[in-house]
Amino acid sequence: MPLVSMRQLLDEAAKGGYGVGAFNVNNMEQIQAIMEAARETKSPVIVQASRGARAYTNDKFLYHLMLAATELYPEIPMVLHQDHGNSVETCKSAMAMGFTSVMMDGSLMADGKTPSSFEYNVSVTREVVEAAHAKGITVEGEIGCLGGIEDGHGAGGDALAHLTDPDQAVEFVRLTGVDALAIAIGTSHGAYKFTRKPTGETLKMDRLIEIHRRLPNTHLVMHGSSSVPKELQDIINQYGGKLKPTWGVPIEESQLGIKNGVRKINVDTDSRLAITGAIRKVFFEKPEEFDPRSYLKPAREAMEKVVAQRMTQFGQAGHAGDYTPIPLEEMAKRYR
Ligand code: G3H
Ligand code: 13P
Ligand code: ZN
Repeated sequence: MPLVSMRQLLDEAAKGGYGVGAFNVNNMEQIQAIMEAARETKSPVIVQASRGARAYTNDKFLYHLMLAATELYPEIPMVLHQDHGNSVETCKSAMAMGFTSVMMDGSLMADGKTPSSFEYNVSVTREVVEAAHAKGITVEGEIGCLGGIEDGHGAGGDALAHLTDPDQAVEFVRLTGVDALAIAIGTSHGAYKFTRKPTGETLKMDRLIEIHRRLPNTHLVMHGSSSVPKELQDIINQYGGKLKPTWGVPIEESQLGIKNGVRKINVDTDSRLAITGAIRKVFFEKPEEFDPRSYLKPAREAMEKVVAQRMTQFGQAGHAGDYTPIPLEEMAKRYR
């Protein structure tokens, strides 16, 4: 099956009342892990690449790995999505490369750090929506800013400092015409989201529910939604790692989100933890090994396991067969 638009996946997920994990990739093993998990669980899937991932892979390698995935897993409906596009230019270059969905993250300025004004966000997002919809490509916008500054992306500091204002969310969707909306409800990118299990004080699910009530037809997106499982932290620390105790977004909170309009759940950190733990274990137990396959294979398997778990928990499992791919040209016609 060719790469499909994210809009098609999210519309279908809304009909079925499930969420779709959006998993970040940087290399072949991560793409393989996701595709194997998708086959195993019969899941449609969103594969996403950050600006950093595109730079790391020099774009072309990533794109051609994705094309290989469409050939090798023809039964899996799959989206290639630009994660956190920092500018109109980044989104346009992703579209030119063949991405079927882009995120214009105008909640921050192009430096990926400084919170922007509402007017700036509307203006850059609107520009991307016009260019993307003309090609049938999906657009995700963001209103409010996530916490943390892990990996150079985020407003930094307090995750509660720039929560999404429901009035602004309604206005933003009206002015931009985005297909999907990322909201800030207290999550952060990276492993260090919460210093204890989050409560309603630190993870604002009530706000998400209110935004969904006001925007019942907009697909909501939860970023920074890795659950940072203790067992994955423990494996890393058992084999020489030094992670500090930390908590992520409990699965039941993501599931509550899915019941309230969340259709896309972003997960990167859980995959990173799984991979790193598996590699550390081989290095620790078999210090004589130097063939990269001896540690990349268990790393790939560990990521596949966590991704398959998420696919089941988010409810996308079992739905791969529901799709007849809608060509991007047809999507473009529908937007017109
Ligand atoms: O947005 C955050 C994702 O985890 C991607 O991270 O920019 O290090 O690739 P990255
Ligand atoms: P995590 O760091 O929680 O995996 O979030 C990833 C993300 O939001 C990518 O955009
Ligand atoms: Zn994100």
